[in-house]
Amino acid sequence: MEPVDEVKVQIAQWNEELKGKSSEEVIAFFLKYYGEKIVLSTSLGLEDQVLTEMVMGQNKEVEVFTLDTGRLFPETYDLIARTNKHFGIRMKTYFPEAEKVEDMVAHHGINLFYDGVEKRKMCCGIRKVAQLPRAFKGKEAWICGLRKDQSVSRFFSSLVEWDANNGLVKINPLIQWTEKQVMAYIKEHKIPYNLLHDRGFPSIGCEPCTRAVEPGEDSRAGRWWWENEAHKECGLHKR
Ligand code: ADX
Ligand code: SF4
Repeated sequence: MEPVDEVKVQIAQWNEELKGKSSEEVIAFFLKYYGEKIVLSTSLGLEDQVLTEMVMGQNKEVEVFTLDTGRLFPETYDLIARTNKHFGIRMKTYFPEAEKVEDMVAHHGINLFYDGVEKRKMCCGIRKVAQLPRAFKGKEAWICGLRKDQSVSRFFSSLVEWDANNGLVKINPLIQWTEKQVMAYIKEHKIPYNLLHDRGFPSIGCEPCTRAVEPGEDSRAGRWWWENEAHKECGLHKR
C-alpha cells in the first residue's frame, strides 16, 4: 500500500473511533499524536477563536498562523492584536509575495476580484493559497474551523480528512457545531471576537469581498456576494 493510502485508512479509522468525542477530546488526541507537526490556521472567525481557546488551553506551544492578505478589515487587525494579548501568544502572520501582488495589480487592477470568478480566484490564490506551503512546512496535520452547516460543499466534510492539495491531514473539531453553539461558547469563555459580528457580519473574509447579511439570509451570503454559490470557496478548502 502507498503511504498516502495508509494515511487514508488511518483517517477512516479515526473518524469511526472519535465519533461522539468532544471537540476538546479530539484536539487532545491529535495534539498528542502529532506533537510539533500540527498547526492551527485561523482567519480570526468565530470558529477559529473557539479553536484557539481550546488549543491554547491545552498547549501554548502549538503554532497558530493567519494569512494576512493585506485587504483585511481594520477590525480584524485589531482582533489579531487582542487575541495575541488575550492568550499571551504571537500568532505567525504570512504575507503574500510582494512581486506577485504588484504584477497582478499592474495587469488586472487593484479590485480585480469584481471582474469574474477567474480573477477573484487569482487574487485568493496569490494573496492566500500560495502561502500555505510555507505555513505547512514540516507539518503533517492542520486544525481548522470548518462546520457542516456553513455551506453545501462543507456539508460533505468530515471530522478528519485527507487534504490532497496540501498533502496533510486536516482536522475539523467543530464539524458538527451549529452557529449558535459557537457564539454561546465564545460568550461563555469570554473570548475576544470581531466587532463586525455584532454589526451583521457572520462570516468575515477580506474587506472588499465581505458584506453584512440581512436577517434570515444565509451566514455566508455576504462572502463574494456577487458570485453564485457553487464558486464560493477561496481555494484553501478545494474539494
Ligand atoms: S474561506 O475559504 O471562506 O475563506 P472560512 O473563512 O470559512 O474560509 O474559514 C474556514 C477555515 O479556513 C478557518 O477555520 C481557517 O482554518 C481557514 N482560513 C480561512 N481563512 C484563513 C486565513 N486568512 N488565514 C488562515 N486560515 C484561514
Ligand atoms: Fe483577494 Fe477578495 Fe480573495 Fe481577499 S477574498 S484574497 S481580496 S479575492
